[in-house]
Amino acid sequence: MTADRPPLATGIPDRLYGRRRGHPLRPRQQRLLDVTLPRLRLRPEQAADPRAAFAAPVEAVWLEVGFGGGEHALAQVAAHPRIGLIASEVFENGLCALLSRLVPEGGEATAKLPPNLLLWPEDARHLLALLPPASLDRLFLLFPDPWPKARHAKRRFVHPALLPVVARALRPGGEWRIASDDPTYQPWVAETFAGSALFDPISVADARPEGWPPTRYEAKALREGRRPRYWVFRRA
Ligand SMILES: C[S@@+](CC[C@H](N)C(=O)[O-])C[C@H]1O[C@@H](n2cnc3c(N)ncnc32)[C@H](O)[C@@H]1O
Repeated sequence: MTADRPPLATGIPDRLYGRRRGHPLRPRQQRLLDVTLPRLRLRPEQAADPRAAFAAPVEAVWLEVGFGGGEHALAQVAAHPRIGLIASEVFENGLCALLSRLVPEGGEATAKLPPNLLLWPEDARHLLALLPPASLDRLFLLFPDPWPKARHAKRRFVHPALLPVVARALRPGGEWRIASDDPTYQPWVAETFAGSALFDPISVADARPEGWPPTRYEAKALREGRRPRYWVFRRA
């Protein structure tokens, strides 16, 4: 990203620690990134008015951070045609997974795309810093990388220094939905939000609430015997 980008948050390293690349891309995946991604990409200058960036009128804007394979993002886009979803992911193979579900082979340049979906293939924290105050109605953070070692806590998306960054972009009354299966992250979420006046706890559950489409990481956690937890916080 460029040097004129707004600073992230005090004490938060402005670099990404997760992987951007996995196994080498196949030609079809490369075409999806070269041809289809630009058709859906939210450009940084469009962040100033995110509602206007969608191809169809939308009544609200939601953001998903780290969509993985895109299962949840695409299910929400289909279920809520009047909501604009910005889906963010930095891992190339994840971007390809979502794009390959959207367009058939050969349709990379022409297949019809959901008018209520935009992609941010960069660090979602930078988008949060670019968005106008109170411009988001909902934020999803599903099974974030847990960074379980205490010395890596600053890499966690849920972090005392990052809560004000999310709170600024979320409108009062807007929802932040979080899920995690990680035994370190679960108490960390509870502890981090307990110390914040920016968010009110709405619910915490050990079963996926209705209206939360499942994700690949959730399925993996359940298969491996871990117990996911699901939180809803409301911007005060
Ligand atoms: C453990 S995976 C979970 C994926 C998906 N939400 C699921 O439940 O299957 C976390 C994902 O978040 C992405 N990620 C991590 N930090 C991010 C950031 N700052 N902005 C956008 N994506 C991020 C990673 O690349 C990774 O794919």
